[in-house]
Amino acid sequence: MKLLVTGGAGFIGSYFIKYMLQKYSDYKIVNLDLLTYAGNLETLKDADTNVNYKFVKGNIVDKVFVEDLFEKEQFDVVVNFAAESHVDRSVSDPNVFVKTNIMGTQVLLDVARKYNILRYHQISTDEVYGDLPLDRPDLFFMENTPLNPSSPYSASKAAADLLVIAYQRTYNIPVTLSRCSNNYGPYHFPEKLIPLIITRAITNQAIPVYGDGLNVRDWIYVEDHCSAIDCILHNGKEGEIYNIGSHDERSNLEVVKTILKELNKPETLIAFVKNRPGHDLRYAIDSSKLHKELGWGPKCNFEEGIKKTIKWYVENESWWQSIISGEYMNYYKKQYQINI
Ligand SMILES: NC(=O)c1ccc[n+]([C@@H]2O[C@H](COP(=O)([O-])OP(=O)(O)OC[C@H]3O[C@@H](n4cnc5c(N)ncnc54)[C@H](O)[C@@H]3O)[C@@H](O)[C@H]2O)c1
Repeated sequence: MKLLVTGGAGFIGSYFIKYMLQKYSDYKIVNLDLLTYAGNLETLKDADTNVNYKFVKGNIVDKVFVEDLFEKEQFDVVVNFAAESHVDRSVSDPNVFVKTNIMGTQVLLDVARKYNILRYHQISTDEVYGDLPLDRPDLFFMENTPLNPSSPYSASKAAADLLVIAYQRTYNIPVTLSRCSNNYGPYHFPEKLIPLIITRAITNQAIPVYGDGLNVRDWIYVEDHCSAIDCILHNGKEGEIYNIGSHDERSNLEVVKTILKELNKPETLIAFVKNRPGHDLRYAIDSSKLHKELGWGPKCNFEEGIKKTIKWYVENESWWQSIISGEYMNYYKKQYQINI
């Protein structure tokens, strides 16, 4: 079996590659990644010595390049993680989100169709469903919840989802699609919420919290996301959408307080900042279809996962300090209007 994993130098894709190489010693994996600001090959250092693994730098939007790669490698399966993934960045510059997330998906689908692959799997997000009210804890996103994205990021992911579904119906491409809740874990890029809180708490810097901090997110440990994708690739039904989640809802403020407590840091580090435009109130995903039909379940709950994650950031300061370069300093300043 030969897999093309796109965006494999990113947070979740790199975990997925390591997970698959370890579990299936006879699978070959090609990682196609543009190495944008979010790509970091250091995360995959261990895989470099594996003969079943190869990295290729390239853009999924470049059809000629992608076609050449398919011709050369003859993939069986495509798993598309490649995306612009940060909501805040999509608010300041939606353009690249449309290019990579929508046009890139279309290129991959076109080429996958030409080369008759066995499975195309699209990695999507629960953010395509929009948000849920805070006072209705009984409501959850189901696979048939109407798409109602709030940010240019989630709109571009929703558009890509629709293309995937349409290509299956029009051209009969063997696709599956998964929509996952918020991931966290080691090696997460330090501008994302949990690593941002941890790294700033470690260095005693102000922790920006949007609005009143009561927005709720449903957290999943990144390895559980990977095991769910593996399960869908092997057992999922063609044309089906699967929600992935751990039922671990927390307000952003609760997450900040948990991390500060674990690191023994004062809550005075919390700095409430102007809310993000279109900030979704609550995400909560129902993944019972995946449990019932394919027997998947998460292994790590938030209490355990956040401890492992914090410990990793404490022990691997050189990893994230090398990322927090001048560019990111400027980014933080512009985004949150706080001194750093
Ligand atoms: N992080 C989450 O909580 C979460 C939750 C649900 C779904 N997702 C989805 O999972 C996928 C991966 O998310 P992540 O958090 O690992 O993102 P990430 O930003 O860490 O990684 C994205 C990777 O894609 C690469 N990339 C970007 N544009 C590219 C292009 N044009 N061609 C080739 N490679 C390109 C980047 O270099 C990077 O390595 C995304 O599709 C995202 O929408 C993420």
